[in-house]
Amino acid sequence: MTQINVNNTVRSVDAEADTPLLWVIREQLGLTGTKYGCGMALCGACTVHVDGVATRSCAIPLASLNATAKVVTIEGLSADGSHPVQKAWAALDVPQCGFCQSGMIMAATALLREKSHPTEADIDAAMTNICRCGSYNRVRAAIHAVVSGKLSDAGLKIQHVDGSST
Ligand code: FES
Ligand code: FES
Repeated sequence: MTQINVNNTVRSVDAEADTPLLWVIREQLGLTGTKYGCGMALCGACTVHVDGVATRSCAIPLASLNATAKVVTIEGLSADGSHPVQKAWAALDVPQCGFCQSGMIMAATALLREKSHPTEADIDAAMTNICRCGSYNRVRAAIHAVVSGKLSDAGLKIQHVDGSST
């Protein structure tokens, strides 16, 4: 058995040393918000935080985590979707199919923790996740909305079906 701290809870997992963290999270711990896309550290769907750093969990063997490592998944970001990044994502209707979005949110929160006012270049460098639905413009707008604290400053006007806009 291996002990692992996920979302501030120490859990015991029964997995081979070379098992990717992604499968420990999903299959051993049942935290299925973290998605499997490519399995090759390319798409970012599996992004979690390891000690606050955005990390592609499909490429991290369980044994490579140090004993004090703290893993945070999308389920650990907030209990009720109230994290500012999650609120901006919801307000700007960022997700389409949604598959990539937990990874996007985890990448964005890691970026904003490191840089509270990221430049466009910072966003380009940090947000390398792939979205087949093409949500990139809204992802960027949501990051700007978090930084400004005002959704109207997001740089992207959203027209809703009821005719209102934000
Ligand atoms: S599933 Fe991990 S980067 Fe694609
Ligand atoms: S919202 Fe569908 S893949 Fe990104």
